[in-house]
Amino acid sequence: MENNTIIEIKNLTKNFGGICAVNNFSGELKKSQIVGIIGPNGAGKTTILNLISGVYGASSGSIIFNDKDITGIEPHKITHLGIARTFQNINLFQNMSVLETIMTAYSWRASYSVLEALVSWPSVSRYENDIRQKSLYWIERVGLSDVTDQAANSLPYGLQRRVEIARALATEPKVLLLDEPGAGINHSEIHDLVELIRGLHQELNLSIVLIDHKMDVIMRLCDWIYVQDFGKTIAQGTPEQIQKDPIVIKAYLGEEDLDA
Ligand SMILES: Nc1ncnc2c1ncn2[C@@H]1O[C@H](COP(=O)(O)OP(=O)(O)OP(=O)(O)O)[C@@H](O)[C@H]1O
Ligand SMILES: [Mg+2]
Repeated sequence: MENNTIIEIKNLTKNFGGICAVNNFSGELKKSQIVGIIGPNGAGKTTILNLISGVYGASSGSIIFNDKDITGIEPHKITHLGIARTFQNINLFQNMSVLETIMTAYSWRASYSVLEALVSWPSVSRYENDIRQKSLYWIERVGLSDVTDQAANSLPYGLQRRVEIARALATEPKVLLLDEPGAGINHSEIHDLVELIRGLHQELNLSIVLIDHKMDVIMRLCDWIYVQDFGKTIAQGTPEQIQKDPIVIKAYLGEEDLDA
């Protein structure tokens, strides 16, 4: 594994019954890189993220993170190691405020016992205050200060996606996996989303895997792009190479205006 590689995937395959959702995928994410995965509906993009984040076990192949084989490790352990994600189908708790939602990201680190919590020792309230302050920092950083106390799942989609990004960041990841952050967001909000991701990437020195159907999001952010179709990689390259690739245009980009 090269020194500046943070995730290396080798010959990863995932079968669901008769469907080969991911077919012998190999790829790498370098430190501080933004890598895109594009392809038509059902191409296997989300399944790749589900395999990296431990939601599914692989049928075969391996995922190496910082020289450690993480294939088949449970999701919370993968989060703990430094890989965080957002969900294509927004996955927020019912009736929890934005602040409470972000605070849950810290709960797995809680060092106090249930008994201590019940008797409300000063150390507990100090701890709670500390995670509250940290959570407020992320809320502010993603531009949600105005809705801190509102129910997260009642917000417009664009803001819910920011809640998910803040919750992921609160786990202090080295790698961030973003599954369609641009979905359900209108054209005028896309620019802000791209700038948010770009800013977080630089400021936090994050390595990012980004899935999106919105080509302007992908092309503006990614250093390298994998193009998936029916579980297989049909092309990979820089945004410039992908936009010109005849195989990609035929299989996926079709009538879309790539210069847009
Ligand atoms: N839990 C599952 N059980 C059975 N089949 C699944 C499961 N998850 C995904 N699949 C199948 O695997 C294939 C790849 O799905 P996946 O969600 O990874 O595609 P995708 O590229 O993310 O598509 P989209 O752009 O629509 O989000 C599809 O045929 C899908 O129906
Ligand atoms: Mg998907």
